[in-house]
Amino acid sequence: MIVEQLVVTHAGSRGALLPLLHAIQREIGFIPDEAVPMIAAGLNLSRADVHGVVTFYHDFRRQPAGRHVVKFCRAEACQARGSAAIETAMALKLGVAMGDTRDDGHISLEAVYCLGLCATGPNAMVDGQPFSRIDHAAVSRIADMVSV
Ligand code: FES
Repeated sequence: MIVEQLVVTHAGSRGALLPLLHAIQREIGFIPDEAVPMIAAGLNLSRADVHGVVTFYHDFRRQPAGRHVVKFCRAEACQARGSAAIETAMALKLGVAMGDTRDDGHISLEAVYCLGLCATGPNAMVDGQPFSRIDHAAVSRIADMVSV
């Protein structure tokens, strides 16, 4: 199993947890809950330590991502530009709650906390492509884009 191999590769290195978690996510797309005891044992940490790091960092997924990933900015500058209402519209239009993946596995909607485009919010990243000044019309365009 790839996770076991990665744990063995990283065991014994100082500060190995974050590099190991990134390596697992890069290889299989998420950090399975079942991997937490193996990671803890391999790095001589408690399961709570590993679980705490996995759940603290928004970049780590605990389930496979959808085919399309919409990362929507929730940080202050975008909030000041009306992102909360746009986020609600986005979730409704995409048919998925923030932080979740649609039941058909087609779309994931994830929170991010600043994309570095603060002056042009509300902002999102759709399959790695930035979108700025998102209004209700843009929400519809994004929904059409990720519908295929
Ligand atoms: S606050 Fe949204 S991009 Fe910076």
